[in-house]
Amino acid sequence: MVPPVDTAEFRRIAGRFATGVTVVTTGVEGTIHGMTANAFASLSLDPLLVLVCVDLDAGLHELLPHSRTFAVNVLAEGQEDLSRWFSSKRRPEGYSQFDGVVWVPSPVTGSPLLDGALAYLDCEVADILKGGDHSIFLGAVRDLGELGGKAPLLWYESGYHRLPED
Ligand SMILES: Cc1cc2nc3c(=O)[nH]c(=O)nc-3n(C[C@H](O)[C@H](O)[C@H](O)COP(=O)(O)O)c2cc1C
Repeated sequence: MVPPVDTAEFRRIAGRFATGVTVVTTGVEGTIHGMTANAFASLSLDPLLVLVCVDLDAGLHELLPHSRTFAVNVLAEGQEDLSRWFSSKRRPEGYSQFDGVVWVPSPVTGSPLLDGALAYLDCEVADILKGGDHSIFLGAVRDLGELGGKAPLLWYESGYHRLPED
């Protein structure tokens, strides 16, 4: 009998996988929302698909089935504050959470694009899959581009990092 895997150990070991950091944004029924996420991956070239894993308890999880659209903002070095803000349970809902944040609506879906981020992918929800206490949102990429940032913000072992300078 194999002993069950300990959750804390799972988090520690899974945290050895270095990722970037994104803020996934959406707009629906007169409101907008953003959420920090690192469970993002490019998935398919034909068709062009990405995936984002969203906690069942997240506000974003409630909104995406209605908006059916989202933008993935890939954060740049120096945007830790945005990452902390859009992962904070203390931030207000709706437009107020973007007070002091410079953003524009994306040309295709109208989802907020964050000034100074590295890049964005603007998506329509193609499918929603079950994944334990998360859902996996598949996004069909409708538009993409750069947003002015130069180097990535990295996430590793529960902390922010930057690429070493040459
Ligand atoms: C670096 C980082 C990465 C995160 N990645 C995810 C993620 O991929 N999926 C997720 O559901 N929550 C993720 N979170 C947690 C959410 O950002 C956090 O729970 C947030 O408050 C949820 O926002 P909402 O409930 O207002 O939508 C992450 C947090 C941080 C700091």
